[in-house]
Amino acid sequence: MKKIAILAGDGIGPEIVPQAVKVLRALGRSGERFSFEEGAVGGAGLEAADDPLPPATLDIVLRSDAILFGAVGAPKYDHLPHTRKPGAALRRLRKELGLFANFRPVMLFPELIDASTLKPEVIDGLDMLIVRELNSDIYYGTPRGRVDTPDGERASINTMRYSASEIERIAHVAFQAARSRRRKLCSIDKSNVLETSALWREVVSEVGRDYPDVELTHQLVDSAAMSLVRNPRQFDVIVAGNLFGDILSDEASMLTGSIGLLPSASLGDNNKGMYEPIHGSAPDIAGKDLANPIATVLSAAMMLRQSFAMEEDAVRVENAVRAVLAAGIATPDLALPGARIVGTQAMGDAIAAALA
Ligand code: IPM
Ligand code: MG
Repeated sequence: MKKIAILAGDGIGPEIVPQAVKVLRALGRSGERFSFEEGAVGGAGLEAADDPLPPATLDIVLRSDAILFGAVGAPKYDHLPHTRKPGAALRRLRKELGLFANFRPVMLFPELIDASTLKPEVIDGLDMLIVRELNSDIYYGTPRGRVDTPDGERASINTMRYSASEIERIAHVAFQAARSRRRKLCSIDKSNVLETSALWREVVSEVGRDYPDVELTHQLVDSAAMSLVRNPRQFDVIVAGNLFGDILSDEASMLTGSIGLLPSASLGDNNKGMYEPIHGSAPDIAGKDLANPIATVLSAAMMLRQSFAMEEDAVRVENAVRAVLAAGIATPDLALPGARIVGTQAMGDAIAAALA
């Protein structure tokens, strides 16, 4: 029996996560293959225990085999210091569990080729993987915070920092991923301006000598942002630091038609991973049964594959999603011509039904 920690979080989180649980239960037939334990996180953690990552939630996480995470954040917490903001829960979980490698596959479902804002000929056959470093960079660097000047002007700083060993370990992960795909790796940096990026480029190149069969290229992040919309199919695997990976993966998601489609897996040195949609809590559409649960359902499929070695079940879930889209069923975020638009729950029901 696999123990799954369920951290739905805020906004649309509590709407989309139950759809993925529904799909996992439908897979489990008797419901005995997985057990689920829910914990409060983010704004929900603040409400329940005055902590974005309450100790009780961390306990659930620590005794689980994998974590299914929804989304955190809401405007009402914007004024809190960064250690108490809902997003702090995510940063702590990623760091405390050593989840340094974030996999964000960007794949176009052929059924959705007309849902993208890009021309079909630009995205046809799109299949790339973004490997984002998740434990370092400006997200964690110190010093950080307010440093008002002596004459009272408000000022703030953050520190972008990478050590060679942090770059090395994510580079190995990315090269290995490229090996199992089309053997092309594009490393992202801003080495024309940043020392951190110069080190990044240097270390990734050194690691590349161990992978002569993988074609390594380097691209500046601004230019990569442009290439992603101009000719995205040139990319196989992209490796980027925490901040650049965050930004480029949101951009890349829109190639597929909606940010509501992209799953992610965060992994460390063992199989215990955290799985979450790449999108946020979307407070503007929360509580309205409008959110697309597909990214979360596909995150659950990644969990089956990567944490539980249940490849067959992962494929069943992915095929069920495709079958539903092929049947012309879509949530409102998917501008799919001629589709029958359904809500979050009905989409979850349809995917679960398509498993049968
Ligand atoms: C993501 C999100 C998070 C991040 C936020 C919510 C802290 O944007 O997972 O991409 O920046 O990592
Ligand atoms: Mg992001």
